[in-house]
Amino acid sequence: MSKARSQSTTLLILIFLFIHPFCSCAQEYRNGAVSSAHKLATEAGISVLKNGGNAVDAAVAAGFVLAVVYPQAGNLGGGGFMVIHLNDGTNTSIDYREKAPGASHRNMYLDGEGNVIPGLSTVGQLAAGVPGSVAGMLFALERYGTMSREEILKFAIDIADTGFAVEEKLSQAIESYRSDFNIFEGSREIFGSGVLPGTLLVQKDLANTLRRISDLGKDGFYDGETAELIVEEMKRGNGIITRDDLRAYEPKEREVMKGSYKDYELISMGPPSSGGISLIYLLNILENYDLRSMGYGSAEAVQLMTEAMRRVYADRSEFMGDADFVNVPWDILTSKVYAERRMQDYSPNASSKSSDVMHGEAYYRESDQTTHYSVADGFGNVVSTTTTLNDVFGNRVVVKGAGFLLNNEMDDFSSKPGVPNIYGLVGNEANAIEPGKRMLSSMTPTIVFRKGKPFLVLGSPGGGRIITTVLQTFINITEFGMSLSSAIDSPRFHHQWLPDEIQFEKNYGNEEMRRHLDQMGYIIKDVGEFGKVDAIMIEEDGSVKAHTDRRGYGSAVVF
Ligand code: GLY
Repeated sequence: MSKARSQSTTLLILIFLFIHPFCSCAQEYRNGAVSSAHKLATEAGISVLKNGGNAVDAAVAAGFVLAVVYPQAGNLGGGGFMVIHLNDGTNTSIDYREKAPGASHRNMYLDGEGNVIPGLSTVGQLAAGVPGSVAGMLFALERYGTMSREEILKFAIDIADTGFAVEEKLSQAIESYRSDFNIFEGSREIFGSGVLPGTLLVQKDLANTLRRISDLGKDGFYDGETAELIVEEMKRGNGIITRDDLRAYEPKEREVMKGSYKDYELISMGPPSSGGISLIYLLNILENYDLRSMGYGSAEAVQLMTEAMRRVYADRSEFMGDADFVNVPWDILTSKVYAERRMQDYSPNASSKSSDVMHGEAYYRESDQTTHYSVADGFGNVVSTTTTLNDVFGNRVVVKGAGFLLNNEMDDFSSKPGVPNIYGLVGNEANAIEPGKRMLSSMTPTIVFRKGKPFLVLGSPGGGRIITTVLQTFINITEFGMSLSSAIDSPRFHHQWLPDEIQFEKNYGNEEMRRHLDQMGYIIKDVGEFGKVDAIMIEEDGSVKAHTDRRGYGSAVVF
């Protein structure tokens, strides 16, 4: 697919309009829309759409802006996945997940006795995988966008240069991690004294890094000055990312994972994310039951969905990893027959136990700092992107002189079989550390189709709870008859096999439902809010709706 640049004569413009396969032959939707975790990212995306850019252009512009205004999860130093549907029927996905550095090895986070050293895979330079976001966003722009790097990056550069007013929630988040920020020189300079709400946060080093990317493309990050600054940062601590690791990083365009649920079809992200497989597997189970008559929040629905989640997450732990390194049986896991077989021991009258499904030990920690954004243009193209540094502010290390945070994505590997990561998720051999391997993700950027046309564009942060958040948003709409906003804002629950407990957001369901499940032997735990869905819905008449989760401070705009 060649890149279409603006044409200089009327004739060329007319030719372009007739032959370009995904840009602007027809106004397929009445509106375009962007839904993201921050109003400035949404505004950048909308501005691109208003200036004739397509959904990929807008998604990339929003992605770079999030790296400036949403440092909790927006990033240059992390990774992500982009699922794209073009109006010529093309479905594709771009994998820009981080990779394990060349000097990594499976026991790198263990002590001499083989025990995991707390904090080593989460805070500090050694926790970082080789970043993928810049390469992935530029790849998407060059292959499927229509605008130049300079046109797209100018939004992020301007905001980094001139500053933005820090929101209360960002200020609080910075405050929570100040002790970590003060360990690292680059982080201390920006966040070490805290940042009060309303402060104009100017990020000159970040603006310069963005300028190098704008001028030089991928080399502006993976080579030259930025690469040198990253390697210097590694040396300041115990980091192992080298110039060669950076130079060798390539994003991968991958086939989407495809599934169906009743009259809907969907595409989502395949390995190295577990998201697409797990979502399709869950839906394959659930379509065999009458969720609609059970109703949202009923004991019957929660019990059924819990038992489905238990089985899917047990298989996630056993089978899933980077399919470039291990054999992931995705075809079996996403087959309708397997889903049916897996529920043969399900009883609506009894709780099963995770220890009977598979053995393991796990603990639980709340953290959901990933971010999702959804874009639709008026031409019929839609983009669903989830990106992350993993934990809040990644490994808390700002690359000194370059102004961006690094990820702590190495924690998404299984440091040791059966030992949980920060999300309480356990893994084994399939997700063991190997040089060049991508760590298993739960990110689930998804596009749902109705009658062959895009209907929903959605995704969420939430670590291991991303998959069940996306699932419930979809089921709330298709089975429980909710509007887009209610489907997103309604309380949720989660089960992930281990720990063997149902995690309820505050206000989920009523006392009677909880008592009923308790009597059946389920362990119930109240947890804080999780997931922040940013989604777009396209009605059959082509009109577009967008909504950002009440749990965040994002912005959804339709124009
Ligand atoms: N770092 C969270 C995920 O990729 O699932």
